[in-house]
Parts: sequence; C-alpha cells; structure tokens
Amino acid sequence: MSSLADKRILLGISGGIAAYKSADLVRRLKERGADVRVVMTAGAQEFVRPMTYQALSGNPVHTDLLDPAAEAAMGHIELAKWAELILIAPASAQLMAKLAAGMADDLLTTLCLASEATLAIAPAMNQAMWRHPATAANTETLHTRGTRIWGPDAGSQACGDVGPGRMLEPDALVAEAESLFRPQQHLAGKRVAVTAGPTREALDPVRFLSNHSSGKMGFALAAAAQRAGAEVTLIAGPVNRPTPPGVKRVDVIGALEMRDAAERAADLCDIFIAAAAVADFRPEKTSGQKIKKKEDHERESLALVKNPDIVAGIAAREKLRPFTVGFAAETEKVLEHARGKLARKHLDLIIANDVSAADSGFDSDRNAVTVIDRSGSCELPPALKTELAEQLIELIADRVSTQ
Ligand code: C5P
Repeated sequence: MSSLADKRILLGISGGIAAYKSADLVRRLKERGADVRVVMTAGAQEFVRPMTYQALSGNPVHTDLLDPAAEAAMGHIELAKWAELILIAPASAQLMAKLAAGMADDLLTTLCLASEATLAIAPAMNQAMWRHPATAANTETLHTRGTRIWGPDAGSQACGDVGPGRMLEPDALVAEAESLFRPQQHLAGKRVAVTAGPTREALDPVRFLSNHSSGKMGFALAAAAQRAGAEVTLIAGPVNRPTPPGVKRVDVIGALEMRDAAERAADLCDIFIAAAAVADFRPEKTSGQKIKKKEDHERESLALVKNPDIVAGIAAREKLRPFTVGFAAETEKVLEHARGKLARKHLDLIIANDVSAADSGFDSDRNAVTVIDRSGSCELPPALKTELAEQLIELIADRVSTQ
C-alpha cells in the first residue's frame, strides 16, 4: 500500500505552462489512494481549465477566496485545516515571492498562511528567473521556514532556453510525497523481539493465575518496530489481539514457556523489549486433573514458586546479549522503583509508567511514560499507546545507534 493512501493533499496550481503536467499528477496521486483537492490561481486558469482537475480529482476545484457558494460548501479555513500536505505544482516565481513575503491576496496564498500542514513547492519558471537573486533569496527564506522545495529540474524549457527551472515530472513529485509520509526506517536491518500480554500459570486443566494485561503496549511496539524496518518476533501471552502485519508471532501460555521462546528469540535479535506482565509466581504443582473441592475445608492454601525473571536473564548474558529494554508499571514512587529495576535487572533502558492513574496503564488505550537509562530520564506525555509506541521505537533506535 502506498504511504499516500487516504492522505489529504491540497494541490495548488499557479500560472505556468507546467500546469498541464499537474493533471497527470492529480491522476497519479489518486491512483495511490490520496484524497486530492485542487486550488488554482487566476494565472493557472489561463493555462488549463478547472474542469480538467475537477474530473480527475473527483472534487470541485477551488479558485476564489470570496466565492459565497464555495465558502458555504467548504470554507477556506476549513480547507486549510483539512490538508495534511499542501503541494504547489507548478510554483511560479511570483507565487514563491508572495509566499516568502507572507502575502494572502488570493485563495492559494491565504490557504498557505492559514494552514499548519507541510508545505511543498515544485518551482517551475524560466532559467533566468530561477537564477535571479530575488528568487534565490525567496527560495532560501521558504527553505528556512520549513517549506519543502522539490526541484526544479534542468533541461530544455518551453520558452526555448536551456537550464534549471523545469518542474519535476509527476512521478518524481509523487515519490517525494510518498517519502514524506513514509515512516522513517529507524530500525532497518535490525531484529527485534518483544514479549507482550500476561502469562497464565495453570493450577489444573481449568484454573490458572493471571493478570489483566491487555498486551496493547507490546503489540503496538511490535507493530511500530516492524514499520520502522525491523524484523520482529512477538512472543505473546494469551490475548485476543490480531497479529500486526509483517510480524512473526509466537504464542505462549505460561512464564516458563515465555522464557524459553524469549531465550530463543534473544539469541538472534539486536533489541529485546520485555513488555509482558509475567506472573511473578506459579503454582508449585500443576494438577493433571481438576482439583476437587474439599467439602470440610474452609481455607485452602496454595504453594507458589517464583517464576524466572525473563528480561533479567537476557540482560545478564555475556554472549549474544541484545540491547535490553524493560517496563516498570508502578503505583507509587514510580521513578525511584523504576531506577531500582533498571540497575537490579541490568537493563539498558526502562520505561516507567504510573498505573494508578485512571486513564493510563494496564488495560487502557492511553499511557504516559518516563524513559530512564543510566544517563538520565525523559518524560513522554500521555498519548495513545500506538503513538507512544512510535516515539519509544524511535528513541530506542536512537540509543541503539549511539551505543
Ligand atoms: O519486576 P517487575 O515485574 O516489575 O519488572 C517488570 C519488567 O520485567 C517488565 O519489563 C517485564 O516484562 C519483565 N519481567 C520479566 N519476567 C518476569 C517478571 C518481569 O521479563 N518474571
């Protein structure tokens, strides 16, 4: 699937002969699943009629700032907020000058000023205009402000000149837009193992000890690591969640089984992330048959034995030791306890979260965490676990690359 699927792209077209190429650009963006709305300047309409883009984009073309009918359908501020990317192709020298000056004297320039979306321009003009110090200064201003400048190409021009100033071909612009939306491959070539979910410690064939871990955080981390280019093995305790695309899943039940799977995965991985809520203890004996209720017993006690600490075992390795990350779900003295665990378990990094907050932690979709390593700590504000996972993977990738 293209990274442009469902992306909301506002295509601005300013006056220039290259405007005819933008008809093909609309088609190619649409083919990749983008939702495209076109805004034309008055100059652009001298070259191509709005109807062309309307037919190709499947949406009405916007041309006027003060058109009551268009404003009633989708006002210019609404349009500015709607866009995830504003791409101006072709961007004339005049349009670049207006953008650099912050002018808003027509619909397109007003939208650029009113939008927080990424702005990209594909300059197209005569080579002398492109080389002119005024255009060079405007390009520099826009670049410093964060505008993406895609092109121009050099070659023969419509006016007969040869030199820089040709608009990039639609294919090249689509590739630029795709790479803008493609998640960065921070973990390309790396192998990552993640444990997730609870473990179930069987008492007998029908009963077990377990906890409320949903597996959401671990699954989100596995998905984010996969999107970041890693080869991911997800060792999942019993949870009813879909396997993230492209991730190898190993289902386990008890802590001993999780430990064995984790040890095998750790032999082959660069990064080990322990997000599972492993039961601390398991019944000393697991009965082969259902344990019968003893009618004369008012009390019953259960002998438990400690489970192995999976992440500590992996962090203690002398050989084949991956970069090892653990979690610390705490209800009090969160940072203090997390720092203790980081040291005790010899982890490279620990992600601490306060599970006492109502809308954070165990079974919720949101989480707020503090990431701690030996050099210090950094707080990530509350976010959806999926968004947090992206940030954590980026942070882990950064630590791994600098260690
Ligand atoms: O000690 P505590 O259970 O709070 O430590 C939490 C961290 O240790 C988590 O990363 C968890 O996945 C990991 N852990 C483990 N094996 C255990 C217990 C915890 O890997 N038996």
